[in-house]
Amino acid sequence: MTYLASGFQDVDGTHAIEQFTHCLNVLASLEFFQNYKQKTFELLHLDAGAAVLEVGCGIGKDAIALAQRVGSHGKVVAIDHSQAMLDLALESIKGLNLPIEFVHTEAQQLPFEDNTFQGARVDRTLQHISEPQRAIAEMARVVCPGGYVVAMEPDWETFTVDSENHPLTRQLLNFWCDSFPTGWVGRDLLKLFHRIGLTDIQVIPETLVVTQFELANQVFDLVQTTYRACEAGIVSRVEVEAWLHELQQMDQSQEFFSSFTGFIISGKKQ
Ligand SMILES: C[S@@+](CC[C@H](N)C(=O)[O-])C[C@H]1O[C@@H](n2cnc3c(N)ncnc32)[C@H](O)[C@@H]1O
Repeated sequence: MTYLASGFQDVDGTHAIEQFTHCLNVLASLEFFQNYKQKTFELLHLDAGAAVLEVGCGIGKDAIALAQRVGSHGKVVAIDHSQAMLDLALESIKGLNLPIEFVHTEAQQLPFEDNTFQGARVDRTLQHISEPQRAIAEMARVVCPGGYVVAMEPDWETFTVDSENHPLTRQLLNFWCDSFPTGWVGRDLLKLFHRIGLTDIQVIPETLVVTQFELANQVFDLVQTTYRACEAGIVSRVEVEAWLHELQQMDQSQEFFSSFTGFIISGKKQ
């Protein structure tokens, strides 16, 4: 089994694309994700006919939403460094006649001229990049003056799971957070946007609460986290089995609670 916290850095290298696409499809089906995505689309201030860049497009659902916004005279360029993701994205738009171009490249080194797009968007991808400032700088470079850069990224130190065992819970949640290349990127976004000269910066917190253990396991990879923390020698198997048992009991009595907060940020290029 691959791990959601670290595997998105190199989806193709894991040879387990189904696990990642399953996760993206589950998330896309939840109202929380649909709602915050709408806000990020609006913050791009796109007119019909605009050219927009989608960074870390995954299976391409947001590229389709953006294409519907910019219309047939607009253009969406959607990039990802996983060819397997791009193949699925391409398959999903077959026959739809949408103005989307999928490009296989790295967010940190975009193969586009300066000032090419009216807006650029990234969604839960900077957390998988060890130098997110390079990706943000690239997005700002390829956006025209007056255009917006918009991101939504979690801050995994806001991740909560309720349990009687506070010390063990902290250890496991820190293990999850630190398994991402940049688990703190949510709180870093303001600083990173400011440092590259973006202005009119707005930050909007978005919190997801999950009260079913099974869904939380799909979104937060809880069971994998416990196994991996055991393998890393951070916690004992007995401790985590008791922890998982407690969470499942809480689930049965409708007392299970978990949450995380991500931050939407938008900034304007001068
Ligand atoms: C968690 S998924 C998010 C996908 C999509 N934005 C969404 O909201 O469903 C992260 C995506 O970023 C891609 N990715 C990770 N690192 C990347 C990089 N350095 N450059 C481009 N894409 C990257 C992964 O292949 C994956 O498709």
